[in-house]
Amino acid sequence: MTNLKKENQVNNHAKNILIVGSGGRENALAWGLSHSDGVEKIFIAPGNGGSRDFDKCVSIDIATSDVDKIKNECKLNKIDLVVIGPEAPLASGLADKLREDNIAVFGPGKDGAQLEASKSWAKDLMNKVQIPTAKHWEIENLNEALTIINEFKKPLVVKVDGLASGKGVMVPKNINETIQAVKDVFSGKFGDAGKRVILEELLQGPEVSIFALCDGERMVVLPPAQDHKRLKEGDQGPNTGGMGAYTPAPLINSTELATIRESILEPTIEALKSRGINYRGVIYAGLMITSSGPQVIEYNCRFGDPECQALIPLLGAELAEVLLACALGKLDQCSKLSIKQKCSACVVAAASGYPEAPIKGDPITINFEPNESVQIFHAGTQHDKDGTLITSGGRVLSIVSQGDSFDEAFSKAYKIIKMIDYDGITYRKDIGHQVRKEFNA
Ligand code: AMP
Ligand code: GLY
Repeated sequence: MTNLKKENQVNNHAKNILIVGSGGRENALAWGLSHSDGVEKIFIAPGNGGSRDFDKCVSIDIATSDVDKIKNECKLNKIDLVVIGPEAPLASGLADKLREDNIAVFGPGKDGAQLEASKSWAKDLMNKVQIPTAKHWEIENLNEALTIINEFKKPLVVKVDGLASGKGVMVPKNINETIQAVKDVFSGKFGDAGKRVILEELLQGPEVSIFALCDGERMVVLPPAQDHKRLKEGDQGPNTGGMGAYTPAPLINSTELATIRESILEPTIEALKSRGINYRGVIYAGLMITSSGPQVIEYNCRFGDPECQALIPLLGAELAEVLLACALGKLDQCSKLSIKQKCSACVVAAASGYPEAPIKGDPITINFEPNESVQIFHAGTQHDKDGTLITSGGRVLSIVSQGDSFDEAFSKAYKIIKMIDYDGITYRKDIGHQVRKEFNA
């Protein structure tokens, strides 16, 4: 490296980092940042039962919506970088409020978070710059919907416009199911999020999650990942937040990823810029690989969960520097993010009753010490008043493992999940079926 290049680099590493969120994604981010160069202390607000398991990490009891307390904590602990995990605080403008106090934040402002928080806004953005996406109709009442359904004569996907905790999309098997879904939405089932509805052409094909770390102008694209949304093997049962993931998904090779960058991700940043939006955070493009090429089925303004858990262990010790550079709009001046050439597998252990009514409060035993190629990331866990680790949410733990092949990575993850015990532990045995030859779960 030349001296000139060295001088141009962002020399201020983030020593003290605050992560906002409490899920498996935030626990994985804490692990990744604790392994990053220059990081001395990581605070997780509010974190979970696994927050204190990693070197340098502590949880602080502050809700993700408590802006004043978060600001105060930033001052008190001389926070150099805030990383906001979930969509709700992003959509409500937490990043903007922190930036008002000159705090470096990885995560878009309220304006950019509309990519996820308003499906109609995201559709409009895509259509203006010809990003490939399903044909859609925006409707505001039942009669309009019925007219379109009768004209189109095919089942249409029904999406509520606003945030609905992953429950706002109904994929129908037939026209009657489309009609029923529209009736449900307009009966008020989704509150304000469902005041406006999108009807969308039903696409077919495998899905892939693509993540770009953005600094408002430039981006670093991460390896493609696939998650498994349904609760049960064979992609059966209800939709969940995600029951497992793996990366890099061979469905997309490096040439195709470069094409996705050019035809989808870069035009997205350009379209955001043309709306005056300085987007500093993750653009998550959920794609369907159809017979006519990749189409965007959704954007999210954050990392996917559990894709993040699979991805983070592949990322190098430059992660904190890269996220800080994104927050400062200086991706051109930081070290290159190295990515390990390994296969990474993530299997989610959920609670019984998930997703409708997860059972909470059961003691958890983990008879395994994580090592260099196996991580256990916590999500719905907490310590009770006696210090016992107990279940406290639907997705409890993510068991993540890396290997030279997906068979190796998954067989390790499935071996370790058997060393974890709590009442009603629930997991899919076929995570990564697309890339595995051996099924020894
Ligand atoms: P979303 O919450 O937008 O990720 O949608 C949830 C799931 O619904 C996606 O992961 C897809 O499996 C499915 N989906 C969304 N849009 C479409 C579409 N236009 N055609 C087929 N499936 C879709
Ligand atoms: N794994 C899908 C999501 O985070 O939305």
